Amino acid sequence: MPKNILVITGSPRKDGNSELMADAFIRGSRSNGHEVTKFRAASKKIGGCRACNTCWSKGRACTFQDGFTQLEPLLEKADSIVFASPLYWFSLSAQIKAAIDRMNAYDAENCKKPLKIKESILLVCGANEGMDIFKGVIETYKSIANYMNWENAGIVAVPKVGTQKEVLKTDAVHTAEQLGKSL
Ligand SMILES: Cc1cc2nc3c(=O)[nH]c(=O)nc-3n(C[C@H](O)[C@H](O)[C@H](O)COP(=O)(O)O)c2cc1C
Repeated sequence: MPKNILVITGSPRKDGNSELMADAFIRGSRSNGHEVTKFRAASKKIGGCRACNTCWSKGRACTFQDGFTQLEPLLEKADSIVFASPLYWFSLSAQIKAAIDRMNAYDAENCKKPLKIKESILLVCGANEGMDIFKGVIETYKSIANYMNWENAGIVAVPKVGTQKEVLKTDAVHTAEQLGKSL
């Protein structure tokens, strides 16, 4: 059964390491017949949540219009969601985190259009050594997935990739493509 998959990327670097992982994932999932949309959060202007508590008052998730407005319909039709982010200060990049914060409108208590997303994936890479660097971001991602009732369908976390395209020297791109095929 073809799924609608939304891939949100968080790096400001075009063809950066996390973007290449996202693209490999997309290749894999498209080869399986899924419909995939990539949304580059860093190429939009997305402000953080203002905690105004006026979600849905204008018929849309968020009262304010910016890059997030384009993400709303994509979120609302997605069956699966993928976060592809560089590790920034042991966490997600600010660009992708701003988009996640704005998803507050879809929190169960406020929500007028519950998301039908059933599963999520995290693709993340960092420059330093060892898997410990990902403890914070993985915990954050898993807590979000758990809170939203998304099944964690996979995590690909790649240490020791710093410079642009360095991820191509690892097997992470292949792993991400296989993960895409597995959905
Ligand atoms: C603002 C900033 C913060 C970063 N913080 C970390 C970090 O906490 N740990 C780490 O291992 N690498 C860190 N890095 C390195 C990036 O995670 C690494 O270069 C990664 O490959 C970038 O992915 P991209 O090419 O998709 O942008 C940081 C880089 C930047 C620019």
